Amino acid sequence: MRGMVSSFPDLLNVITLNEVVTNFALQINSKKTNGICLIGMGGSSIAGEMIRCILRERANVPIISVRGYDIPGAVNKDWTVITVSYSGNTEETLSAFDTAINRGCKVCAITTGGELASHSEIIPVQIIPSGLQPRAALPLIISAVLLILQTILGGEPIDPRLLSEDIRTQSKEWSRSLLKPREFAEKLKQTTPVFVASGHLVPVAYRAKCQMNENAKVPSFYSEIPESNHNEIEAIDSFGERNLLPIFIRSSFESQRIKQRFDATQIIYSEQGCTPITVQLKAKTTLEEALTLTHYLDMVSVELADIRSVDSTSVPRISRLKSILSSKR
Ligand code: F6R
Repeated sequence: MRGMVSSFPDLLNVITLNEVVTNFALQINSKKTNGICLIGMGGSSIAGEMIRCILRERANVPIISVRGYDIPGAVNKDWTVITVSYSGNTEETLSAFDTAINRGCKVCAITTGGELASHSEIIPVQIIPSGLQPRAALPLIISAVLLILQTILGGEPIDPRLLSEDIRTQSKEWSRSLLKPREFAEKLKQTTPVFVASGHLVPVAYRAKCQMNENAKVPSFYSEIPESNHNEIEAIDSFGERNLLPIFIRSSFESQRIKQRFDATQIIYSEQGCTPITVQLKAKTTLEEALTLTHYLDMVSVELADIRSVDSTSVPRISRLKSILSSKR
């Protein structure tokens, strides 16, 4: 997992859309679409969630993401559906995919193979390299989702490959703005991290929670500002007794009001003896910021797994659950 996570910047350099998927996206661009629905579970859903939050400001149609068996009733033949499953065999994703096909939506898929790839006769399929854990394939999936969505939506394109170099440079010098991943992981050793973010960094907080769960095998939670200012803030005086540690993932692109909210929240949390750790770095764009922070927190999760002497790669409970459920079909 350390090797897979370390190659995050390199994996942004890999994907070029195939001709069928490119033509599919170009056709939608010229004919327009009423909305875009991203389907996927776990590690395969986060890329869509991140890109959705980055592009939603400039998109003139709704972009939604679905993690489950069903798609909303409004998703019909005038919608575009991008189905992501690294294995190509995840049952919730396949169920939502079937519904999209039956409703006549314009559907494409991103996968390494499996059942999803077997539909390549009827829908465009972008095959991505196999051999990784789905969660470690995030940069591959992000590149594919970004390239498809940009082609559909038009506008100034972002080249994921150009991000690769910037993220690699930042990762060589984490200590300029952040604790080294190992030092950060040491701070998390006896705690339950609660990642708090706003706007385009909310999926980064969710991803960090998932990486703590799957890599380091520790409980972890996430919440978002401003919403948590209306509920979670009232629980802060019992964070300490439950070993919950708030980690604020701050953006250099915060609006003035969100900045004031984070600062005020920090004051109240600190008054209750629960001073948050802040994670923030400098980046040129929101996408670079989200991906660099993701890469950093992925590294922290691997270091925490190492400190705890747990296997960060295997996910035996996820596999067992999938196998119990498949035996009950
Ligand atoms: C495993 C992981 C999981 C999977 C999820 C869906 O590394 O991150 O969250 O991503 O079980 O599986 P796929 O991605 O094969 O559809």
